[in-house]
Amino acid sequence: MIEVFEPIIGEEEIEAVVAALRRGEISGSFGESIPAFEQEFANYVGCEYGVAVSNGSTALHVAVAAAGIGAGDEVLISSSTNIATALAVIHNGAVPVPVDSENVTWNLDLDLIEGLITEKTKAIIPVHLYGHPVDMDRFMEIARKHNLIVIEDCAESHGATCRGRMTGSFGDMACFSFYANKVITTGEGGMVTTNNKELAERLRLLRNLAFTKPRFRHEEAGFNFRMTGYQAAMGLVQFRKIEHIIAEKRRVAQTYNHFLKDIDGLQLPHEADWARNVYWMYAVVVHPEFGITRDELVDQLRADGIDTRTFFCPMNQQPCLLERTGFRAVPCPVADKLWENGLYLPSTYTLSEPVIKQIADVVRQVATNRKEAVSQL
Ligand SMILES: Cc1ncc(COP(=O)(O)O)c(C=O)c1O
Repeated sequence: MIEVFEPIIGEEEIEAVVAALRRGEISGSFGESIPAFEQEFANYVGCEYGVAVSNGSTALHVAVAAAGIGAGDEVLISSSTNIATALAVIHNGAVPVPVDSENVTWNLDLDLIEGLITEKTKAIIPVHLYGHPVDMDRFMEIARKHNLIVIEDCAESHGATCRGRMTGSFGDMACFSFYANKVITTGEGGMVTTNNKELAERLRLLRNLAFTKPRFRHEEAGFNFRMTGYQAAMGLVQFRKIEHIIAEKRRVAQTYNHFLKDIDGLQLPHEADWARNVYWMYAVVVHPEFGITRDELVDQLRADGIDTRTFFCPMNQQPCLLERTGFRAVPCPVADKLWENGLYLPSTYTLSEPVIKQIADVVRQVATNRKEAVSQL
């Protein structure tokens, strides 16, 4: 089976983890790896502060908490996203409001934001989906006009840029994931980046059970969202490869683009002229002219030993959100269609050209076979 993604872990990562363990960087916030990883990654993003946490979900959770968002507040979020974006809102007692996608980049549709703002709207979490940045220049104008707190969900967009500026450097805070399939990985892991000193201090306090003085007396209800030192040591090694990894992800995408171009009804991933897409995953959408449905294509690929994933189930359709008091199931017809018709193809950044061609040939062949079968009827 050609897996949809395989993490690439080298000897250097293994040695770095072992060395961190030998230095005693096991749990707690001790040692040199966590602050070094935080600072190097934050510098890369273009932020002054980085706060390493246990995963991307807890990065979002603690960012929403640090922003002071809670009961009675609404937070606009991209409808097409991982459930973690919405969970960060509901676990803080607030209500997520889904914003539908647009058809080209599949990111949230900026034209819909203003129509969804109410007097309860406190913040907005745009997701840079599958590695393509949201147009953050235009986005920030809208957000600032309405005094919205902006928390960028950069779980899929490490290194993606908007007019040369990194995703994660626009909002009040940005949240990254270092899960095994992310652009760089620490196994589990995440980070919040920010340029705001007070927010950085709050994030550090809240991630560490809100310990203050005297020790063991807590003014606030914090969380244990700490990263381990040996994960940060692995993160530093991964981080030093990030531009190489992005270049390889872009090579994989360009190779797919070459072999998949001009297939009727197959929408390929976009890269706006102002954007650097890091192609976290190589995502495509199957339209009716393709001849077979997305599910049929998934089955055919699987029969040929090729693994895929569907796009995200949009937030307006999530049972765990629909049952919540105050949730507004805003219609999201574009995100609904993406959930029905979108999939991503194997996207490991070491995929060779012959393997990508083999996958693309199967995609092209199943569409051709169906069209020939239909024309013979
Ligand atoms: C857009 C998005 N947000 C948040 C997350 C959550 O990250 P994690 O799996 O590290 O908790 C993910 C991925 O898993 C994601 O794709």
